[in-house]
Amino acid sequence: MGVRHLILGIETSCDETAAAVVGRDDGGCPIILSSIILSQIDAHKEFGGVVPEIAARAHLSALDYLIEKAIDDAGCRLDDLSAIAVTAGPGLIGGLMVGLMTAKGLAASIGKPLLCINHLEGHALTARLTDNISFPYLLLLVSGGHTQILLVNGLGDYQRWASTIDDALGEAFDKTAKLLSLGFPGGPMVEKAALAGDGKRFNFPQPLKGKDTLNFSFSGLKTAVRIAAQGLAPLSESDIADICASFQNAVAAVLVNRLNRSMDIFEVEHSSADKNLVVAGGVAANLYLRGEISQLCEECGWNLIAPALELCGDNAAMIAWAGLERFEAGEVSAMDFAPRSRWPLDETSASLLGSGRRGAKA
Ligand code: KG4
Ligand code: ZN
Repeated sequence: MGVRHLILGIETSCDETAAAVVGRDDGGCPIILSSIILSQIDAHKEFGGVVPEIAARAHLSALDYLIEKAIDDAGCRLDDLSAIAVTAGPGLIGGLMVGLMTAKGLAASIGKPLLCINHLEGHALTARLTDNISFPYLLLLVSGGHTQILLVNGLGDYQRWASTIDDALGEAFDKTAKLLSLGFPGGPMVEKAALAGDGKRFNFPQPLKGKDTLNFSFSGLKTAVRIAAQGLAPLSESDIADICASFQNAVAAVLVNRLNRSMDIFEVEHSSADKNLVVAGGVAANLYLRGEISQLCEECGWNLIAPALELCGDNAAMIAWAGLERFEAGEVSAMDFAPRSRWPLDETSASLLGSGRRGAKA
């Protein structure tokens, strides 16, 4: 086949079991040959959150089949692969072990290199898979476990400029949805309810606004939502819609404020670089937030690169792609590589009090 550097990617760090095959076409452009994502949401729904033990067992029962299907869909054979890339952290340890042991077994049996990938690096590099952009660029990573602004300087060279000091943004969406009995996962439910709402009805706080920091804080916002909801109980449908829209308004204002200041810093420090802002992570699927960030970019003369919705959330194509970049850089992981439930992208930044406390989702 005319595709080179075929990499199988495996993702099992949270509640999606995923396998994908990625490579480069004849012209050297990245190509996704297959990408399968099996969501476990139904298995966790009744518990209102991800149950680690259930997640690990579900990965175990689905993964072999998913890998076979990803290889089949890609129209290749195991022998055609150049390497096997797998998420080795951060995430839920049981799920990580399932993926890593499977990848090691497969790599050993077909005699191909193993590449252990940081899940956050997968999110960080997705824009190079989808849009072929060059380093450096700014990244807003917003998911169930992380809320960060990063400078992506090169492969393996990441600087964290901002992080949350308490809840992750996806967590704030999920908790807001729970409070309003909208179901799990909350992000899409809050977005949907907000469509019919008045975002100006509640003047929710924008934590750390006006402070000399790029960091985020969402626990105060969550408390304000709870107080507003309790004050109005029983809530009508339009109360719920207004709370959701006002919540999203406050979140958008905070994101736009921090991004705007980060862009200014980037322009000074990297004056000759392209002005590219990448958004990634499950919350980046939110079309209202995308719209507000897109407007900011337009006003400031920046390009916004927002991956297709199925590549925003957890998937294995991003892991295969990060593997491909590392494979082409001549890297191979040791067969005794251990899974890491916590694994910051920027190991030089001090970890912030409370940030990524769950450490489970990324
Ligand atoms: O990156 P992701 O798929 O998984 C991990 O966190 O690892 O992100 C999931 C998070 C959840 O908190 C979910 O509620 C949130 O992303 N999310 C959204 C939307 N879709 C997913 N938040 C806001 N709006 C959405 N449309
Ligand atoms: Zn993720």
